[in-house]
Amino acid sequence: MKLRKLGSSMNLNGKRVLIRIDGNVPIQKGRAIDGPHGRIARAAVDINWLSQRGAKVIVMTHVGQPGGRRISAYSAKPVAKRLASLLGSRIQVTRTVVGKDVEKFVAKMNPGDVLLLENLRFDQREEENAPSFAEALAKLGDLYVNDAFSVSHRAHASVDAITSFLPSYAGPLLTSEVSVLSKLEERVRRPFVLVLGGLKMSTKLPIMERFLPQLDQLLVGGALATVFLVAQGKSVGKSMYEDASVESAERLLNKFGKKILLPRDVACTRSLRRDAKQEMRSVDEIGASDRIIDIGPATRKTFAQALDGSKTIVWNGPLGYCEIAEFCSGTREVARAIAAQTGKATTIVGGGDTLPVIESLHLADAFTLLSTGGGALLQFLSGESLPGIEALKL
Ligand code: 3PG
Repeated sequence: MKLRKLGSSMNLNGKRVLIRIDGNVPIQKGRAIDGPHGRIARAAVDINWLSQRGAKVIVMTHVGQPGGRRISAYSAKPVAKRLASLLGSRIQVTRTVVGKDVEKFVAKMNPGDVLLLENLRFDQREEENAPSFAEALAKLGDLYVNDAFSVSHRAHASVDAITSFLPSYAGPLLTSEVSVLSKLEERVRRPFVLVLGGLKMSTKLPIMERFLPQLDQLLVGGALATVFLVAQGKSVGKSMYEDASVESAERLLNKFGKKILLPRDVACTRSLRRDAKQEMRSVDEIGASDRIIDIGPATRKTFAQALDGSKTIVWNGPLGYCEIAEFCSGTREVARAIAAQTGKATTIVGGGDTLPVIESLHLADAFTLLSTGGGALLQFLSGESLPGIEALKL
């Protein structure tokens, strides 16, 4: 896939560069939760590169889903603080997203300055992909850079419509993600193992349907696996799962049952308290009061064996209830097992919930690609086009 890229030979000195990043990370007590390999940290590298080249850098991001309303809990200010700590300079956030005041602010910028616009989604026209909003944003820049692979599946004004108003380029972070993923699209080396976890079967269903015919094994954990266990007629006690997806799981089991590897044993608790006693059970012995919170030891071993010797591994979503660190041992073990295959295999890992686990294990550099994308990664791998990427194709 060939994209219009931001080249190092371009003269950016004094140019106003509007860069779309994905600063959408959890905010806790006014702080952006973003580790050394987090979305903001990775975007900061490219913002710094632009600033060093004398560009006036106008950064755009969304935070959460404020639904077109100005809600202070969704302000982009914590993103500015995180960026400032990474870049070592103060970064101001505009009061409004677009308009005369913002234009005046931009007019006063010096080469190398970095400014952050307030949360794009405070203006409802962002999610409507409204040309009027894209035009108002475009007024602030001479060129546009999309460096947010993880938002490129959204046909939003700062991702899609804006490309009709300004010369538009793919940023280095977006380019690197698309380049690894397109190779995978062109030719998958086999054995190909897909590891899926998380809560929502409905979001993972298209990727299962796309890949099951060609992959060698699908390893399933998390609440996703519980849906399959229910489809097999097993009791799952009080475990969480998406009820509406049981029929789809049954259909996939009938068609591709041999390729789908489900947990044989699980860790169960009676409550979701971190100090709750964990009991390992076979999937045939789950009691009425049990909640599945992790894959069990025998399953971890089977999954590691299935990964060994594979040539392509794609992983998305935790295999247990990783909101509580004590319930995340299975996910951690599988993360280590995937990392151990890197080099021998192409390993691609993504999803906002997976990243903190990987950072806590210091494994961020241990994969072929640690994608910033959750929904975008799945959509790309499902073969669907992403509006933000389409707009940048040569
Ligand atoms: C994400 O977190 O996957 C991206 O930031 C996109 O966010 P959205 O799902 O709210 O559009």
